[in-house]
Amino acid sequence: MTKIPTGIGKLDELLKGGLPQKSVILISGPTGSGKTVFAYQFLIKGVEEGDKCILVSSSESPAFLRSYIESFDLMHISTKMTIVDAYSASIGKSKGEEKFSLQDISDVSEFFEVIKKVIKENSARRVVVDSVNPILNQQGQNIRKIVDQFKRIARGMDCTFVMTSYGGAGEKSNAELEQMVDGIIKLDLEEKGGEFRRVMTVWKMRFVEFVPQKLEFRITRSGIEITS
Ligand SMILES: Nc1ncnc2c1ncn2[C@@H]1O[C@H](COP(=O)(O)OP(=O)(O)O)[C@@H](O)[C@H]1O
Ligand SMILES: [Mg+2]
Repeated sequence: MTKIPTGIGKLDELLKGGLPQKSVILISGPTGSGKTVFAYQFLIKGVEEGDKCILVSSSESPAFLRSYIESFDLMHISTKMTIVDAYSASIGKSKGEEKFSLQDISDVSEFFEVIKKVIKENSARRVVVDSVNPILNQQGQNIRKIVDQFKRIARGMDCTFVMTSYGGAGEKSNAELEQMVDGIIKLDLEEKGGEFRRVMTVWKMRFVEFVPQKLEFRITRSGIEITS
């Protein structure tokens, strides 16, 4: 099983090299827990390794994304990744500078059509969807079918998906999502004696033998660093 390193040293060690190739991995956690930083780090590592990378983002403009990515050390390579603009249309703006854009991130068939086109044109190996919730949260959507589509693309086009989700424990949609994906990494902030610490847990990772454990981490200008 080929592994795709995340760029987070100790996590890659725990996973014996990284995320399984051609898999669909969910990064879940509350706001501020580090999901976006995790996703960027995965892409940055990809660029460093010479993998073609794609970032689909619905919550921020491409210009903001590039400046966010470049707020980290060693991350001055945002121009080397392809950004799919799913933001402009969502706030009623016309298409920006990006070559690829979505008219409506909640339009599932448009979403997959564009994704497949971008992956094919770029021979992409790593794809981030930050976040996946707008596509899943549409009324009447069949979550199992949507995740199945992601998996088919991953297997068929030889790329690895990292998707972020803010979860919402107990929600039916979330349970279905978690059941369907190949792997789940949970990020959280835990309070202990009035102080907060960041923790990461590999919850599920198909094809990989690992010992579940809480990894403490911090976020610095270099990205995520496991400290425990
Ligand atoms: N350039 C940076 N340097 C240091 N820490 C940062 C930087 N950018 C973001 N962070 C830290 O990462 C935290 C998590 O951000 P983010 O990944 O965007 O959260 P989420 O996507 O889970 O809502 C921020 O609250 C901040 O503490
Ligand atoms: Mg985020």
